[in-house]
Amino acid sequence: MSVDVASLVDQGRLWDRHMRMAVHGATAAGGVNRQALSAEDIAAQKTLIAWGEALGLVAATDPAGNLYLRLVGTDSDAAPVMTGSHLDSQPSGGKFDGVYGVLAGLEALEAIRAAGIAPRRSIELVAWMNEEGSRFAPGMMGSSVFAGAVPLAAILPVRDAAGVAVGQALAQVRAALPLPSWPLQRPVHAYVEAHIEQGPLLERDGYTIGVVTGIQGKRTFSVTVTGEEAHAGTTPRRERKDALVAAVRMVQALNAAFADPEDLIKFTVGRFDVRPNAPSVIPSLVRFSVDLRHPDSAVLRALGDQVVHICGAECGPCKVEVVELSTAMALSFPEPMRALIRNQARLLRISATDILSSAGHDARYLHPICHTGMIFVPCRAGISHNEAESAEPGHLADGTRVLVRTLVELAGDGAR
Ligand code: GLV
Ligand code: MN
Ligand code: MN
Repeated sequence: MSVDVASLVDQGRLWDRHMRMAVHGATAAGGVNRQALSAEDIAAQKTLIAWGEALGLVAATDPAGNLYLRLVGTDSDAAPVMTGSHLDSQPSGGKFDGVYGVLAGLEALEAIRAAGIAPRRSIELVAWMNEEGSRFAPGMMGSSVFAGAVPLAAILPVRDAAGVAVGQALAQVRAALPLPSWPLQRPVHAYVEAHIEQGPLLERDGYTIGVVTGIQGKRTFSVTVTGEEAHAGTTPRRERKDALVAAVRMVQALNAAFADPEDLIKFTVGRFDVRPNAPSVIPSLVRFSVDLRHPDSAVLRALGDQVVHICGAECGPCKVEVVELSTAMALSFPEPMRALIRNQARLLRISATDILSSAGHDARYLHPICHTGMIFVPCRAGISHNEAESAEPGHLADGTRVLVRTLVELAGDGAR
């Protein structure tokens, strides 16, 4: 690379954009609540489009609500190189999860422009729709539909807690942000996603870059326990169909079954809805989520298959229905992509180590359809999915330096 494009990455601009993006959905405690396809998400997308268009990037969407900003290559027929992540957040999320991958991609494109590089392949920045699965479950909707792993028709009817369907929310976004619509399942040459680690390892071991080796497996379930509403004072205990008591037994039994001294099994019940949720009415309905993860697919398969049996065994006089919402086995990114990323870090003299991703990412869905890899940077104390999430400006910039060189290598030189 004659002009070292990495030297044109601007740490201050990158940090400033994180702070400006965090205004959309800012919480009182300094975090972000930016649900997929919400007014805050629309505002964030608008900001990103304005920054991208100022650089001459071409903005577009697709029927799944993914947002693209394309730097057009000299060979416009060649399959593009993509980079990005997501703009939606958890309800008590931070300023960096997802946003970093999007803004690192934008900064990389800005550096490529400033270097006067004309890549052969187009390079597309993407903000995938609904990675978090917080408003609409499950997550990674945009990337899974883009990659053809999930049909578009399967996501459109999914409703949020207020009864709004993905299809309705998408129509609102399209009305607010009219953009050309590109087809789903287009050919992609390669995808590279930058992300904060969301765990403590890089910081603990003093590395700036994590070359991501793969992603651990994850299965998610929705469990619905149905009992019967009755008076809290008059109904004899033995006659009750108390959905909450049954659900609590299920959670305890699951937690015991998935205990693991090695701490490889990750089991979480993050959502627990009780109806009618009134102090003097015996609960008639409980719906809770199960998030189950393990780095070994065979183990995850066996553990996940126990969920329905354990819930059935603990339901007592109530009824239980277990629906598996998503099934994602463990995966490994290809070694040539890892080597390419590792090599860029080495050339830039930035410390790097291999690392397995314990969190899920949109890269999971791109992996089967193109050369895919991920670049991690440290986050403070490994804290994520938390308003206190934080990262060092220098680490964010170094990750972007590795990213931009990787993208330029993958896109090829259009001037040759
Ligand atoms: C992604 O946000 C995950 O929960 O792993
Ligand atoms: Mn994320
Ligand atoms: Mn997340």
